[in-house]
Amino acid sequence: MGGNRRELQEILAAYPARPRFLLPILQDIQNAEKYLSKDAMRAVAKYLGIPDSKVYAVATFYKSLSLSPRGETEVKICMGTACHLRGAGAMLSGLEERLGIKSGETTPDGKISIERVNCLGACALAPVIMVGDKVSGGVTPAKIAEIIGDGA
Ligand code: FES
Repeated sequence: MGGNRRELQEILAAYPARPRFLLPILQDIQNAEKYLSKDAMRAVAKYLGIPDSKVYAVATFYKSLSLSPRGETEVKICMGTACHLRGAGAMLSGLEERLGIKSGETTPDGKISIERVNCLGACALAPVIMVGDKVSGGVTPAKIAEIIGDGA
């Protein structure tokens, strides 16, 4: 998880202290730490001489940036129309219940996070989920359990 002060300082030092570098800086921190901690966002605001609220606004606007640590395994459940019609909603709530978290959250052990997404572009295979970089179609609750492993 976060707390890697040196890495944060190195990322900042790689950019001139100008507000227009806000997004690339946040992306680098996201890549290094897997999320943007409050401390990191504050440090960025200070470095660029802009308000914390501005950093926060950008951090929440871009989907690729995350304000909470994501799990080692990211499970994305497609909630697009085709998947929705084929029971994605029930699958999502089943998974949320099973893991004891809501979409957008990560299990306390940091292993799995769930996220709802719009069409993953594989509607013919609905319902579709994406685990890490891998898209799986024709998913059932049993299949999900198998894909994410039963350690959950
Ligand atoms: S709606 Fe789910 S893949 Fe298109």
